[in-house]
Amino acid sequence: MTEKAILWSQSMSVGIDELDAAHLNLINLVNNLFEAGLKPGAQQNLEAAVATLMTHTLAHFAHEEAYLNSRNAAVAAKHQSEHIRLFAELEAICQRLLKEGGKEFDSATAAFLRHWMVSHIMGHDKRDYPKLAKAS
Ligand SMILES: [Fe+2]
Ligand SMILES: [Fe+2]
Repeated sequence: MTEKAILWSQSMSVGIDELDAAHLNLINLVNNLFEAGLKPGAQQNLEAAVATLMTHTLAHFAHEEAYLNSRNAAVAAKHQSEHIRLFAELEAICQRLLKEGGKEFDSATAAFLRHWMVSHIMGHDKRDYPKLAKAS
């Protein structure tokens, strides 16, 4: 694990085990991306790590949107618009990483991905999930 790896902490918990497990999975995929550039055959590793992270992120977002929509359509719509923005940010940074090729990410890139992950979890999921889960 690189020094840039994101470590799960209890403060990231949304309070719902299934969702925490899904977020931990995404954190592991971001950490895989951090490591991918360090291994031999870096470009290939990077492409695989990017593809996996993007696929899992899309599936996670779709799952959340369906869950929230079944409880509160207005909350789900706002949450979905934030997902669209978050995914566009991820897509942009992944495109740049692929273009630059396999090399260790600079600190700014690692910091951005960490912020992307943690602010997503701690920001909008924490804001929307606990109240709707309680209401169900
Ligand atoms: Fe989430
Ligand atoms: Fe979300």
